[in-house]
Amino acid sequence: MRLDTISRRKTLVGATALLAASPLSALAQGTEPAIHVMKDPNCSCCSAWIEILENDGFVVTTEASAGTLLMRYKLDNGIAQEMASCHTGRVDGYMIEGHVPVADIRRLLEERLDAIGLAVPGMPYGSPGMGPEREREAYDVFLIRGDGSTEVFTSYAAA
Ligand code: CU
Ligand code: CU
Repeated sequence: MRLDTISRRKTLVGATALLAASPLSALAQGTEPAIHVMKDPNCSCCSAWIEILENDGFVVTTEASAGTLLMRYKLDNGIAQEMASCHTGRVDGYMIEGHVPVADIRRLLEERLDAIGLAVPGMPYGSPGMGPEREREAYDVFLIRGDGSTEVFTSYAAA
């Protein structure tokens, strides 16, 4: 029991140190992206996705929206119905729809593509915030161009 307590404490300390280190170093560099997320307050998968972004250094702000109001926001910002998911983020002028992996958001910001943004339509199981990655179903991240056309940005195979 004693050993158990000790190792558990070690793990907690380690995790806390990790969490504390990343936002601090990010702030010091002043390069971490700020993302504003519209989400249904009653939907927990959006919060799980936001947590993943925050752990990666993103500065996240949220705004409550739902139903037709949220759908209207998506449409008004260039996200067609077939690209729609739950939450909608805006970072650096780009729209990020649904459970888009952090690596894809960072790649978009780095490559500064001429586009509306990225989308993972629906809610694929095993995408970030949607359950364990080792049980992931295959899904695509789409790039939405300014004219509304879409192309595959990244393909994630089934785990
Ligand atoms: Cu979701
Ligand atoms: Cu959600």
